[in-house]
Amino acid sequence: MAILEAPHTQPSGRFDNRAADYRHLQALPLSSAMGAEIRGIDIRAIDDAQFAELEHALYRHKMVYLRDQQARFEDQEKLTLRFGNFGVDAYTAGVEGHPNVQRVVKEADESSPMIFGGNWHTDSPFLERPPAVSLLYGAEIPPYGGDTLYANTELAYQTLSPGMQELLVGLKVHMSARKVLAGLRRHTPDGMDVKVTSIDMDVEERTLVDGAVHPLVRTHPKTAAKSLYVCPTYTVGIEGLRTEEASPLVDFLCGHILQPLYTCRLRWEPGTLALWDNRACMHHASNDHDGYRREMWRTIVEGEVPA
Ligand code: SIN
Repeated sequence: MAILEAPHTQPSGRFDNRAADYRHLQALPLSSAMGAEIRGIDIRAIDDAQFAELEHALYRHKMVYLRDQQARFEDQEKLTLRFGNFGVDAYTAGVEGHPNVQRVVKEADESSPMIFGGNWHTDSPFLERPPAVSLLYGAEIPPYGGDTLYANTELAYQTLSPGMQELLVGLKVHMSARKVLAGLRRHTPDGMDVKVTSIDMDVEERTLVDGAVHPLVRTHPKTAAKSLYVCPTYTVGIEGLRTEEASPLVDFLCGHILQPLYTCRLRWEPGTLALWDNRACMHHASNDHDGYRREMWRTIVEGEVPA
């Protein structure tokens, strides 16, 4: 009988975040686990060859970012549409004239225990078709703080023991926004007049609470890589298991994914555009910049039904 020692689930020598040999851009890996800065692209003038390599780099590094972009809403919309149709945002209405661009703002004079995206999550997994890719542009950035953290859920799956991988394949997670909505209500006793810092929420509560059931181990539609589809914000159960059985498993998996060595941390600058693959990573916005305004523009690409 083989009992595997603990180090087999700890980060060890399997990291491979090397840049591929690109011809139309440069990729500079951020951490050993994931992330890369992309140089050599102006999104206002991106051509097909650059886009093909950008997409490849995104799926390889899970999160990529471009500095010094002078983006307008329409530039971000155009780049988003190269990946696919716009996804529907479950929480917020878009800006006037640009319904698919969401403004994510925390004002300088605001102090709130809860901000948009302020806990580890993958975007809107409570939908039948959660967003595939998210794009976030830094319009106004605090002098420090407001970083976004990412964790690689493919690497986390690969480093589980074969026995644990086998146990997980076939399980289905229930994803719901009910914990998020309950948290919002605590700050707004009147009910669904919900607001997270400066963002007016446009919420269809039933869809968010009922949520959706998805494979816990999902297969990437472009790369065929498997990843763990579970997160502390939205996973509320596992189909066929009691809560007291599912919760420790979900806690273990989230703890495993969120080990520091599976993560990277993006420090924003005005003009930084980040893109991440929701099929292959979780992310977390930092609520640590009271006194400084932060304004981001967010667009999402419609995803597939996870399989
Ligand atoms: C998000 O979760 O989509 C927003 C992340 C951020 O503002 O850094």
